[in-house]
Amino acid sequence: MEIKVTLAQTNRTRPQDSALGFGNVFTDHMFVMDYSKDNGWHDARIEPYADFSVPPSAMVFHYGQAIFEGLKAYKTPDKKICLFRAKDNFERMNRSAKGLCIPQIDVDFVMDAMKKLIKLEEKWIPETLGTSLYIRPTIIATDPFLGVRASYTYKFFIILSSVGAYYADGLNPVKIWVEKEHVRAIRGGMGEFKTAANYAASLFASEEAKKNGYDQVLWLDGIERKYIEEVGAMNIFLLIGDELVTPILNGSILPGITRYSVISLAKKWGMNISERKISVEEVFKAHEDGKLTEIFGSGTAAVISPVGEIRYGDKVISIGDGTPGETAMKFYNALTDIQYGKAEDTENWLEVIG
Ligand code: PLP
Ligand code: COI
Repeated sequence: MEIKVTLAQTNRTRPQDSALGFGNVFTDHMFVMDYSKDNGWHDARIEPYADFSVPPSAMVFHYGQAIFEGLKAYKTPDKKICLFRAKDNFERMNRSAKGLCIPQIDVDFVMDAMKKLIKLEEKWIPETLGTSLYIRPTIIATDPFLGVRASYTYKFFIILSSVGAYYADGLNPVKIWVEKEHVRAIRGGMGEFKTAANYAASLFASEEAKKNGYDQVLWLDGIERKYIEEVGAMNIFLLIGDELVTPILNGSILPGITRYSVISLAKKWGMNISERKISVEEVFKAHEDGKLTEIFGSGTAAVISPVGEIRYGDKVISIGDGTPGETAMKFYNALTDIQYGKAEDTENWLEVIG
């Protein structure tokens, strides 16, 4: 399929790297294509970033049939544009699509479209360590229809955003609220898909956590409310004695690409890494026994985010001394060194696109 390009008539400039937050600076262009039963994915185009015209009856607004991805393009010190495990994101998008009865996308085609868009928007890729171009591919259901069924028409789009750190405090340890009452997802539901509904389901508890001074929610499993699952926008790792533990994928956790990368590096470094069920009780017991030395989250937006405090009901524990832990930093440095082309890409995770 050919991609039609319409250029924006603008000379906007990127804010200074130091002024970048997360997700509020959008570039000049976007990639869009549409789907219909008769034509499949069609009308692929790169066009000026602008409002869409979608009817108020579009099914996405009523029944939430929406999926998305989050990945990044990085600028290396020698000015190359790199992607990190990008294909994995589009493969995950196809798994999310299957789960929500959305038609599959051609991974190679959307990868090419995304690369074309990124190259066109090169000036929007910031260059300092910790900054990047965040890429948000999304699919929404567009049928104008009020009955409940899977839509017959869809819109796929990719928008780009020049970003700094996900958390305003950068690498400073975050405070996490273990949610006792609300659940994000259950096995057999949609937790393993990157769908808008999972984030909608997380808002009430996240707002409560914020009111209480916490940055993110740590979700427990939806059935026994006993085992830890993941944080709002990250998977979670705990260092207990010499064991690095992360909750095993059980259908209700998002299979994070950064999670897989941390597991691979840990194996390569000969660490004692386990993917297993871990109860919140075990976490507090390990702390009591002096064995819980680090907790950190992993995700595209945040990379590695050390956790300095967790609260579960009345119980509050501090982890570490208020600075990022040694293991968290080791993973942060290893991942960012690969992403920014500062270390050899021994795992073959990086793709230079320009
Ligand atoms: N879990 C949730 C709920 C997320 O939103 C994210 C972010 O994408 C992650 C985990 C981490 O996934 P990844 O490493 O692929 O970014
Ligand atoms: C990411 O890490 O890419 C995310 O999608 C997290 C959040 C911004 C939803």
